[in-house]
Amino acid sequence: MNAHYIANSGVQKIKPYVPGKPIEEVKQEFGLDKVIKMASNENCYGASETAKQAIRELTEQIHLYPHSLSSDFREKLSQLLQVDTEMITVGNGADGVLHNLGMTIVDQEDEFIIPETTFPLYSSIVRAMRGTVVTSRMDGLSIDTDDILERITDRTKAIFFCNPNNPTGDALPADRVHEFLKQVPDHILVVIDEAYIDFADRESTPESIRLFLSGMNNLFIIRTLSKIYGLAGVRLGYGIGDTELISLINRVKPPFDVSSIAQKAGVAALSDEQFRRYTLEKTNEEKRYFYSELTEMGLTWVPSQTNFILIDTGVDSKAVFENLQKHGIIIRPGKNFGLPTHIRVTLGTHEENVQFFEAFKKVLVTVTKSNDYIKAMDSKG
Ligand SMILES: Cc1ncc(COP(=O)(O)O)c(C=O)c1O
Repeated sequence: MNAHYIANSGVQKIKPYVPGKPIEEVKQEFGLDKVIKMASNENCYGASETAKQAIRELTEQIHLYPHSLSSDFREKLSQLLQVDTEMITVGNGADGVLHNLGMTIVDQEDEFIIPETTFPLYSSIVRAMRGTVVTSRMDGLSIDTDDILERITDRTKAIFFCNPNNPTGDALPADRVHEFLKQVPDHILVVIDEAYIDFADRESTPESIRLFLSGMNNLFIIRTLSKIYGLAGVRLGYGIGDTELISLINRVKPPFDVSSIAQKAGVAALSDEQFRRYTLEKTNEEKRYFYSELTEMGLTWVPSQTNFILIDTGVDSKAVFENLQKHGIIIRPGKNFGLPTHIRVTLGTHEENVQFFEAFKKVLVTVTKSNDYIKAMDSKG
């Protein structure tokens, strides 16, 4: 059997997703006792104690299937966000919501507009379902909403719009987003991925839920509890959209895809406003520390509306990534995102960030020296 040809023609075209390297793997590879992961935009402050307690209390019930539609969690979200429970679908992380949505909406003749530099899962899902990906170009490192609008055709079914965007970390100003959304014909779905919206400042928060409730029912807003709520390991995300679309998604959603642990932890995490605020304040404090260090180093970066920063190292980002691992630090090289000199660094605790800069400064010297050496050798012929 040739397994490659067993896969459908869409799956054959998908590039494998490259996740952040696990800590244990780097420890083993480099014989290190301590490794800091700044690669997957997790919450470096952990998770809410209330959520952890809720998980502990559930251990006697794990032999039972979870509620298939996460009713308590949806109820909690409904109160918090002032949306009807019928407008909410829950998934195994935002990734799970994206998969369920993709299975529901993608047909073979359909086109999906996706910015060139964004979260890679959108195009994988569209391709797996054998839809057509239409790539929209970037305006520098920002999403170009005019270019998206120009690419709309009779076959466009949806637009994937990550705001704030990953891997760039920037968000478009709220008024620009409003203008853009107003111009999208209302039969086209706009999937707004707001995984990082809790980290964005007010001017960059388009209040998409309010827009949806005020009549823009072609919006589908995706959020996650993996970031500011620190629940990346339990897998919990949700989508908000038109009730009919939600009930169609629920036809294909695996009935028990969201564990009882995730549902319980989610309710508890949403109730712990103190932890959410703490994460936000600390993240903003550390962002300022990053900016001042980067300024001192004379490097450029994208002002971040998230818990990570995209930095232009000016040298080969893969070499920076590899050398940082030797110092026990895992980051993401931009090469995978089509940005050969950039690195994406998740903000850590202050102690971790200090260690990052100590290592980063040394690594830049090493990489620059080896570049100079290669150039000298090349010029010798
Ligand atoms: C933009 C974006 N969307 C979705 C996700 C997936 O989140 P989850 O952990 O809820 O699956 C991520 C994770 O990094 C992300 O960056």
